[in-house]
Amino acid sequence: MNFADFYRQSIDDPQTFWANEARLIDWHKPFDQAMDYSRPPFTKWFVGGETNLCHNAVDRWVATRGDEPALIMVSTETDTEKVYSFRELQAEVMRMAAIMRSLGVTRGDRVLIYMPMIAEAAFAMLACARIGAIHSVVFGGFASNSLATRIDDAKPKLVISADAGSRGGKSVAYKPLLDQAIDIAQHKPAHVILVDRGLMPMERKAGRDIDYAAARERYLHADVPVTWLESNEMSYVLYTSGTTGKPKGVQRDVGGYAVALASSMRHIFCGKVGETYFSTSDIGWVVGHSYIVYGPLIAGMATIMYEGLPIRPDAGIWWRLVEKYKVTRMFSAPTAVRVLKKQPPEFMRKYDLSSLKALYLAGEPLDETTSEWIASALGVPVIDNYWQTETGWPILSVAKGVEDTPTRLGSPGMPMHGYKVKILNESTGAVCSANEKGVVVIEGPLPPGCMQTVYGDDARFVNTYWSNFASEQVYSTFDWGIRDQDGYYFILGRTDDVINVAGHRLGTREIEESISSHPNVSEVAVVGIEDKLKGQVAVAFAIPKNAEAIATTEGRLALEGEVMAVVDKSLGSVARPARVYFVTLLPKTRSGKLLRRSIQAICEGRDPGDLTTIEDPASLEQIRGVVKG
Ligand code: PRX
Repeated sequence: MNFADFYRQSIDDPQTFWANEARLIDWHKPFDQAMDYSRPPFTKWFVGGETNLCHNAVDRWVATRGDEPALIMVSTETDTEKVYSFRELQAEVMRMAAIMRSLGVTRGDRVLIYMPMIAEAAFAMLACARIGAIHSVVFGGFASNSLATRIDDAKPKLVISADAGSRGGKSVAYKPLLDQAIDIAQHKPAHVILVDRGLMPMERKAGRDIDYAAARERYLHADVPVTWLESNEMSYVLYTSGTTGKPKGVQRDVGGYAVALASSMRHIFCGKVGETYFSTSDIGWVVGHSYIVYGPLIAGMATIMYEGLPIRPDAGIWWRLVEKYKVTRMFSAPTAVRVLKKQPPEFMRKYDLSSLKALYLAGEPLDETTSEWIASALGVPVIDNYWQTETGWPILSVAKGVEDTPTRLGSPGMPMHGYKVKILNESTGAVCSANEKGVVVIEGPLPPGCMQTVYGDDARFVNTYWSNFASEQVYSTFDWGIRDQDGYYFILGRTDDVINVAGHRLGTREIEESISSHPNVSEVAVVGIEDKLKGQVAVAFAIPKNAEAIATTEGRLALEGEVMAVVDKSLGSVARPARVYFVTLLPKTRSGKLLRRSIQAICEGRDPGDLTTIEDPASLEQIRGVVKG
């Protein structure tokens, strides 16, 4: 079939189209209705059907392929490598599930997972899915304040964590940050399960903290059956940054997500049962949820979970894994490729990469040089794909599993099945003509797999995502884009205050709030500035309360260091600004709105845009001055 027809069916008759796709997964009870869109913009998928993500990812394959590899755990940080078959994975998941049940965790309870890239993190996610608990994975790079906000929003009964992570051979503490977060948070989880990797000493709180290894011993032979869930029950909440300082809990269902992943694994990623998938992301991000843990396993593939840097012990590490495990499909981010590009190319040529069929890149704009370099180095197609935490799977790409659509450099492709994508003029809401810049929006109903709502806050879901245009109710991606004359889309960056640092999505407002907590900062603006390696970096412009503190170079550097340390401590080093500049004025409109876009433009050497409403133009001169200096 050609993709145009396939796509048309998905839009013209979503009921039939998705009922067909739903056959890619196992159902315990068939659904009554594929789609219920009677209360827009909320969409229900596979109403009345019962299924389970863990069953589809694990149990389903145990019967016929129990001894084949399922989870391949590789850590170049601790020099460990272990392959779990589907049967072994099932046993580990049941042990974890049994421990969770012994702590009173049941269907609908939240479990917060704050873990490094270790196999137990995948066991924990799958164990939640198995018993109908709702997981909320928090990226290990986040520190206590970020963690506390999420604890207070998700109100988990249980937290699963570890002593430490490791990066570049250095241990990174997790447990003390977790303890601090629980101290700060209003909500106190009843229990904490701790995996002791022996990397760092841990204090244990009596009555609350449980040693995973000891508990596992008690449940070695646990047999925990799958809890069948109605398709629209919640599977997980994953927090992501937006325009306000308070992260949004992206809430996902069970059945729609399982079908969307199975469908994308087949049509976009062309994964086949028995092959190996390697995504270099982290379980703390949406890519880790969809394409490290659930997607590949649902497709019956083995999945590699990798803890370590792409260049340690050397830049050949990923390619060694591709060779050893005969990886067919690999998923990474442009930033990682830009890091590899700086390394000698020999590392790639050393390994037999003949198993590899394609490399998928997402998370940030893919520049042409990076794309061409890696395509020619690997000799396989490089497939850009554009999506968001909110959607769970690609919005734009090319579906090579349906038709061999050519890619176009600089473009992530065209709308995938189920997504009615449009580009609207920011102020008029009119549909843009070809090659005219506008906001990328999606007409409802969103396809299966996309967020159901903002966790605990339907109004925020509607107000944030669906109320940006007076003319019609559409989902806003908050990205600028254009569509060319042939239907290829191009993404031109965010319309809001979200920045993308090395593929990590961060909110500038959160960083500003963190910096404002420094006693000598009265006001601050954080913007994302173009960076050759990381795509963007955060840069802060702060007004000190006491200007004398920065009168000398030493004083200025000291305050800059202190501000960075505040961010490290509260949000985590991922959010640390690359530079902190001090000014006495910030550019604002007369109504007091910070002109972040103008600051960003100046830093990137562009025109600051329309300044008719600026309060004090001298502020821009200051920005220019400090940045130049
Ligand atoms: O701005 C877009 C950018 O990353 C944002 C979503 O980030 P996150 O929620 O972390 O989800 C990442 C899932 C891959 C988008 O709003 N983005 C993502 N993919 C691309 C991209 N920008 C350009 N090209 C892409 N392929």
